[in-house]
Amino acid sequence: MTHPPIEILGGMTADVFIRDYWQKAPLLIRGALTDVGEPVGLEWLKELASQDEVESRLIEYRQSKWLVEHGPLSARRFDRLPESDWTVLVQSVNHHLPHIADILWRFDFLPFARLDDLMISYAPPGGTVGPHFDSYDVFLLQVGGKKRWQISGQEDIRLVEGAPIKILQSFEADQTWEVNHGDLLYLPPKYAHYGVALEPGMTYSIGFRAPTQQELVTQFLIYLQDRVALEGMYADPNLTPPTEPARIAPEMVTQVATMLKAIQWDDATVADFLGHYLSEPKPHVFYDAPDEPMGEDDFAEALATHGLSLDLKTQILFTETEVYCNGEPIGTEAEDTTLWRQLANQRQLPPAAYPADFIAGLYEGYLSGYWYAE
Ligand code: SIN
Ligand code: CO
Repeated sequence: MTHPPIEILGGMTADVFIRDYWQKAPLLIRGALTDVGEPVGLEWLKELASQDEVESRLIEYRQSKWLVEHGPLSARRFDRLPESDWTVLVQSVNHHLPHIADILWRFDFLPFARLDDLMISYAPPGGTVGPHFDSYDVFLLQVGGKKRWQISGQEDIRLVEGAPIKILQSFEADQTWEVNHGDLLYLPPKYAHYGVALEPGMTYSIGFRAPTQQELVTQFLIYLQDRVALEGMYADPNLTPPTEPARIAPEMVTQVATMLKAIQWDDATVADFLGHYLSEPKPHVFYDAPDEPMGEDDFAEALATHGLSLDLKTQILFTETEVYCNGEPIGTEAEDTTLWRQLANQRQLPPAAYPADFIAGLYEGYLSGYWYAE
């Protein structure tokens, strides 16, 4: 299969990027993405940061001390800030602004199951979150202003003790760049970096996610717990009378071990688990059901006229056998699978007369606020 050049990788193909950089090495692409649509003004960012359901942080470095405040952040709090040396960071802006979501989905040369969110930070001169590393891959897009980025492949990841954020005890830069509007810096997980705003500007962080093995196992056990239904009960009709009644006898251990071995799973179970788990919205995400929903016939007509767009917070992923939306399987009919997959990949459907079963499935999601036909 030939891979097309990816504009935001400066024309590099996805296979070359993955072979040489992804999870391996940093990459700076000058002028990767200059057309970011309408700039997200600081006022907009403040408004988002003031909302309860939006995750935000304010980070200041004052008198040799790191200060962190978690949102919601009031307008009055912003009024009290100095001219320089602070950063405000707002998580998942792609859930609120369609043109920001469009930037996130341009990273579709990587699997959606690995994409997390688009965070926006604003900093006046001197604003920084300090030298640190992140656990996940990240693309850092400069939007307006100017920032100095320093990066380091250092092995020393000792952190400043007692600091409210992860700050490296010592940071030895290998490379230093001044980045301008449209420059994109990719960093693999655990790569040390240190950005300081030189001019007021924003950084759009396209963040990825990867569960730890511990998290996966814990979540899988929770998934199994809800699904395992086994017959039978512990029994001991031929019990040997104990000389030491407090002892848990080896025969009891063997019988219970045999019972536990009845818990079985295969790749199909794991695929179903991943579909549920990876498409599950974060705890603070809610969907707005339509106040006055149209009937199914009107919905079918709207679909034929306008097509369908996913709500910005909706996540659809699919496995070989099922399609999962916002943590639940859709229960797709085999003949509709192609359409569901198209919706999952493109996050929209063109106007058309779709099969009745498919429309019925879409109508349910419409009633839950997962997508719109308008
Ligand atoms: C920033 O937006 O200034 C910090 C982003 C990061 O270092 O991950
Ligand atoms: Co970082």
